[in-house]
Amino acid sequence: MCGIIGAVGTQNVSGLLLQGLKRLEYRGYDSAGIAVISPNQQLQRIRTAGKVQVLIDEVGKNSLDGNTGIAHTRWATHGRPSENNAHPHTAGDAIAIVHNGIIENHESLRHRLLSEGCHITSDTDSELIAHLIHQKIRQGVDTLTAVRSLIQQLKGAYAIGVINKDEPGRLFATRFSSPLVIGLGEEGTFISSDTLALRPVATQVIYLEDGDVADITSDTVTIYGINGEKVNRPSHKIPSNHEIASKGKYPHYMLKEIFEQPDAMSRTIQSRMTTHQVMAEAFGVNAADIFRRTKRIQIIACGTSYHAGLVSKYWFEEIIRIPCEVEIASEYRYRNHIIEPGTLFITLSQSGETADTLAGLRLAKTSGYLATLSICNVAESSLVRESDLVLLIDAGFEIGVASTKSFTCQLEALFMLMIALGHAHALDALKETDMIRELRAMPGYAEEVLKLNAAIQKIAKGLEHKQNCFFIGRGIQFPVAMEGALKLKEISYIHAEAFPAGELKHGPIALIDNSIPIVALAPNDDMIGKMKSSLEEILSRGGNIVLLTTGQTGMENRDGISVIHMPHVPKLLAPIIYAIPLQLLAYHAAVLKGADIDQPRNLAKSVTVE
Ligand code: AGP
Repeated sequence: MCGIIGAVGTQNVSGLLLQGLKRLEYRGYDSAGIAVISPNQQLQRIRTAGKVQVLIDEVGKNSLDGNTGIAHTRWATHGRPSENNAHPHTAGDAIAIVHNGIIENHESLRHRLLSEGCHITSDTDSELIAHLIHQKIRQGVDTLTAVRSLIQQLKGAYAIGVINKDEPGRLFATRFSSPLVIGLGEEGTFISSDTLALRPVATQVIYLEDGDVADITSDTVTIYGINGEKVNRPSHKIPSNHEIASKGKYPHYMLKEIFEQPDAMSRTIQSRMTTHQVMAEAFGVNAADIFRRTKRIQIIACGTSYHAGLVSKYWFEEIIRIPCEVEIASEYRYRNHIIEPGTLFITLSQSGETADTLAGLRLAKTSGYLATLSICNVAESSLVRESDLVLLIDAGFEIGVASTKSFTCQLEALFMLMIALGHAHALDALKETDMIRELRAMPGYAEEVLKLNAAIQKIAKGLEHKQNCFFIGRGIQFPVAMEGALKLKEISYIHAEAFPAGELKHGPIALIDNSIPIVALAPNDDMIGKMKSSLEEILSRGGNIVLLTTGQTGMENRDGISVIHMPHVPKLLAPIIYAIPLQLLAYHAAVLKGADIDQPRNLAKSVTVE
């Protein structure tokens, strides 16, 4: 779980590289290093054991000046944490490289390089990459060709940044099954293992695909595909800090954040998947091995994050048949658990600072779990720093107290985790490709449902003067109903409760009359027949239904039913899309009631106390 940053700038880039490392420190912090090409074309390198601050202090004592450079924060896999094993690694005092990932054929490569007279100074698999490049250059090729030759020589996962003192002003990058992005900014061009690290310096980001090699200068990027042909990779806008911190054209952060979902969802899945595979590496260096050994899952979380966990239980159990328990963190931490061998412990949190979730994680770390994994939106958070594996959701700052885009991005992340786990347990390759295709379509569906905003605003008028509201769903839609109820109660202060539709007649139906609206989630899935029966039972007792359904179910507006027409979405992914109209419904109901949307009474964005 190392972090890479590289830059070719118009001025000295060492400060930018160190700031980038600080933002990447959550990925690993047992040692760090930086290398730049100095104005007199020498390679200057400083490495230190310990946290990034130790490196920053060391750089402060020396002068490090160069327009081209790379830096790295390490989380040891091959070779203990030490200055000697820290990146950048060099070869021939000319080549410096940073690497994230694992080179699986490192033993045979090391053996070969040693027999050919290479002087290898560290215990790492990464240093071998520098020697492979240097060897090629000594045979008379340029750095670009030497970097391209790595594809034939390396097995495993890698994201690599390379500089050569003899080609100043150029930075080379390649990746395979390990994330690497290129950032385009005013002060130069950057590479990073993580978009988040580029946010302050870049306005656009390009996602490299497996086998791509990039030749980068301060104002150009040329990318070659796996077969050596020049390829065009689209660039995507990174919202600026100003855009993030302002409401823009929206009256409230919550509405802005609801509308940001298509972009946030795209960012969350980009660079974590190829067309046929989720990169286990995106979760951390030894994720693939941990996933192979995972037999069960325990998830803990609070509030909205808990609801995301409940949805994922259906995915883990139905698609890949891995048993999954989901528990509210404040309950989990005070129970005496039975922990089965091979259980992966997962925390879900937008903020990464929720006290109960963090306490649950700390307890879990001493309880014999296989490993801990966190899905989180804040790179620097305690949860991220303290977990063995991490997947950042990249939803962007969420300022509104009501969590919206984090929920849909958490669901995407959990779906990716399910695919990666499935892959480690021999999931059918075609099924894997299909699910990835479906997941990629989600931001498009989100765009589509956001067009329902005006229709939902009208329907919300029916909630304005109500005291109570019920939400119903079945199967995988039940946790979405719970999330809809939470959204409505927290910002509009209307009492809202969710029930599995089948449970209505075991009690709640006693409350139904025309004073209580019932929001029903009824996609055209295998539960639709049963949902229709529940809806009839409600109508015959005078209930008023807000129905989220698709054209295929044949249900239309009629007395007692207002329909929100949803697109037809693959059943298992439908929760991601059905959550969005519920956010809008809660938002508009709260606006009509004149509530404080972004800072509802008694609530805090991050619950850091018990
Ligand atoms: C959701 O809208 C909430 N305000 C709240 O329930 C939140 O989801 C919960 O406090 C958990 O926060 P976290 O995701 O930051 O851990």
